[in-house]
Amino acid sequence: MPTPLQFVHHFEPARGTQARPLLLLHGTGGNEDDLLSIGQMISPGAALLSPRGQVLENGMPRFFRRLAEGVFDYDDVRQRAGDLADFVLAAKDKYQMAAPIAVGYSNGANIAAAVLLLRPDILAGAILFRAMLPLDHAPHTDLTDRPVLITSGLRDLAIPAESANKLAALLSAAGAQVEHKTFPVGHELSQLDITAAKHWLAPFADIP
Ligand code: MLT
Repeated sequence: MPTPLQFVHHFEPARGTQARPLLLLHGTGGNEDDLLSIGQMISPGAALLSPRGQVLENGMPRFFRRLAEGVFDYDDVRQRAGDLADFVLAAKDKYQMAAPIAVGYSNGANIAAAVLLLRPDILAGAILFRAMLPLDHAPHTDLTDRPVLITSGLRDLAIPAESANKLAALLSAAGAQVEHKTFPVGHELSQLDITAAKHWLAPFADIP
């Protein structure tokens, strides 16, 4: 009996391409529709799996609980990263998908980073827009050669640069192939992010 899919989500099958599926993870207050057009821009025709975060903060969906802005409930991060990883496994089975590349924005980027660190076999790589370190202590993880793009905003008031740098260093130390770019923008997503993501993804986009 197939495992039921525990997240409200949108699934868009691949259209005439062997491209890796993308796992789209929205920011605080978003939903499963938010990043669909960005996924299509970054990898046209790729299958898109887009869940909605299960935590509500004043009615706004998120992927894990926080105690204040930038102050995370780390136990909840670990629990929710596990739930999301299990959802991806069940979705791979149901939709006959290869391991996806995560594309996360803000809170979605942070849960993607947590999944990479805690359940390294789930994702083939990740694009993390406006990410920061999502865990208080890092598990020993092997991310050898896993490609990761992090894009930060120079004027981002929500994400401390030091935390984004620590995340990049941690992923690199685990063996991931990390590229970290900082653009002269704020917390919002910009065309610079989309163009960088599309360019960065090209060599890894196809399923080998
Ligand atoms: C978070 O995960 O809380 C982000 O870093 C900030 C946000 O989503 O607003």
